[in-house]
Amino acid sequence: MSTNSIDSLLHEDRHFPPSADFAANSVASASLYTDAKADRLAFWADRAREYVHWHKPFTEVLDWSNAPFAKWFADGELNVAYNCLDRHVEAGIGDRVAIHWEGENGDAVSLTYAQLTAEVKRAANAIAALGIGKGDRVAIYMPVVPEAVIAMLAVARLGAVHSVVFGGFSAESLRSRIDDAEAKLVITADGGWRKGKVFPLKSAVDAALANGTSTVSSVLVVKRGGNDVEWVDGRDLWWHDAVEAAEPEHVAQAFEAENPLFILYTSGTTGKPKGILHTSGGYLTQVAFTHKNVFDLHPETDVFWCTADVGWITGHSYVVYGPLANGATQLLYEGTPDTPHPGRWWELIEKYKVSIFYTAPTAIRSFMKLGRQIPQGFDLSSLRLLGSVGEPINPEAWIWYREVIGANVAPIVDTWWQTETGAIMISALPGLTTLKPGAAQTPIPGIRIDILGEDGTRVDPPQGGLLVVSEPWPSMLRGIWGDPDRYVDTYWSKFSKPEEGVYKYFAGDGAHVDTDGDIVLLGRVDDVMNVSGHRLSTQEIESALVSHHMVAEAAVVGAADEQTGQAVVAFVILKANQTDAQTADEASTMLRSHVASAIGAIARPRQIFIVAELPKTRSGKIMRRLLQDVAEGRPIGDTTTLADASVMQIIGDKLK
Ligand code: PRX
Repeated sequence: MSTNSIDSLLHEDRHFPPSADFAANSVASASLYTDAKADRLAFWADRAREYVHWHKPFTEVLDWSNAPFAKWFADGELNVAYNCLDRHVEAGIGDRVAIHWEGENGDAVSLTYAQLTAEVKRAANAIAALGIGKGDRVAIYMPVVPEAVIAMLAVARLGAVHSVVFGGFSAESLRSRIDDAEAKLVITADGGWRKGKVFPLKSAVDAALANGTSTVSSVLVVKRGGNDVEWVDGRDLWWHDAVEAAEPEHVAQAFEAENPLFILYTSGTTGKPKGILHTSGGYLTQVAFTHKNVFDLHPETDVFWCTADVGWITGHSYVVYGPLANGATQLLYEGTPDTPHPGRWWELIEKYKVSIFYTAPTAIRSFMKLGRQIPQGFDLSSLRLLGSVGEPINPEAWIWYREVIGANVAPIVDTWWQTETGAIMISALPGLTTLKPGAAQTPIPGIRIDILGEDGTRVDPPQGGLLVVSEPWPSMLRGIWGDPDRYVDTYWSKFSKPEEGVYKYFAGDGAHVDTDGDIVLLGRVDDVMNVSGHRLSTQEIESALVSHHMVAEAAVVGAADEQTGQAVVAFVILKANQTDAQTADEASTMLRSHVASAIGAIARPRQIFIVAELPKTRSGKIMRRLLQDVAEGRPIGDTTTLADASVMQIIGDKLK
């Protein structure tokens, strides 16, 4: 970010205090901050008792004796699915709609809490009949259909561990995730609807399992796309056959608070995605607490809509576990925002009277580009709160969101968090916080955030630094699946001092505190890119590129992009003897599709530059900073550390 824009953020003087009406009815109260400050652990213990039903109450709050491996509420027992389902039915709200689902092709269904509970019970029996029990891993590779939520809850109900793989990932990405987690079962669909067409999913599962060495013994297939699928007898089963044949009753058993709930793979700085592990009691406590307070949820009257796919952490925490634990009514939508017309999202808000809407800045920017007349063609008056997540929201997009979608009255919460943090960590609390465009603002009560310089000391505003979480939190990741060393190295080595008992979680983000004391996020400081709010690793894309037989060497950078925040830009050296592509354009087109099929369409580079050299230091390290200058069309920075200073000149000249 340029110094100019930092200055403008520092001097942001548009402030939006909560309206008296909103403040009078808001869920969050100022005592949350004072209570958390007075006794952080007692605060979280109270939240755990308030938001979670414990089959066996806990007596311990935090066990940090084996830091940075945490245990929260460890001697308590609960069933996460029971918390999201049965308890609401028992409390007499079984008739409340849990999920209004709308398919992209117009199919629609609404499920009450009683119906959802019944579906999950049957599904749990069907999944148990396939030999799945506590601790077993189940991969879920689905479109956004109710069965995806039912499958996640059924797996959780059995004390098993789900690993949801976003349906846009390739067969190869799916395979590596299945293998890493040693999944026994895959739950998928024949296909799903996207951009007016059915995209196949089952065929990717078949390809992922084709080498025959997988640990998977069964594949459950939901019928959604109606497309033809190949069938492996003895392994594949239709979901509807298995679930219809299953017993309807299923009693939820209690599991210990630290029983693993899910693994979710996310990109890191190396090529191999990390299996982020989350457990049960602490996770549920923080997602339910934040969902209720950050979104000011009044479950009797609100209709909540989080537009994330269930394949991402936002879908786990704020489509599945947070809203359902709170007994909310929510909308679930399968398709893209612009199908069959660019006003589809606004049409859905009007149809279901959505009152709380949570989406990513990329989506907001793409709507801005289309113009305000599209949302203005719909009745959005039901909206009373807006949320943003996944990447920094620029003040212009924030103001547009407020004016055009929020009718100049709906508060906006800009929520900072990560796959690893499990739940929201920094956000305004509506009704309490005076809002400001472009700033995530304040750690939620019970969370301690610091901004540190490279030397580990706190930086004074307005200087920028690195964001750390200075105390363990209930929904924190419990590790990286199968790789405890990588967990410690990645997150806990930069600023921790184990000999002094000091552990600080390094998030990988840059941030600063502005003159009002608000936290402003500045983006990643490592080799992780953020494209449309999705995390991608530069190294993973480089590996995909060099796996192509034409490629000798590749370097990837995240270049600033007006719409997607960052975009993937690659620099590739072709092998001297390759004959597949006659021109650089041809090579670039082939390689862009190669990356999409190796990782998934979200990783497809916006541009690939075919070059003769890459800028390297004397020790052979690629200087991505210089490539980023080229990709962003800036004058090339300091080249004095290059082994061959003329390289950038050559690249720059060629690209002109
Ligand atoms: O860089 C931050 C950015 O997204 C990263 C986490 O990505 P992921 O694990 O995929 O989770 C995304 C959804 C929670 C962070 O390291 N990020 C997320 N929210 C914000 C953000 N950057 C700025 N402002 C946000 N509100």
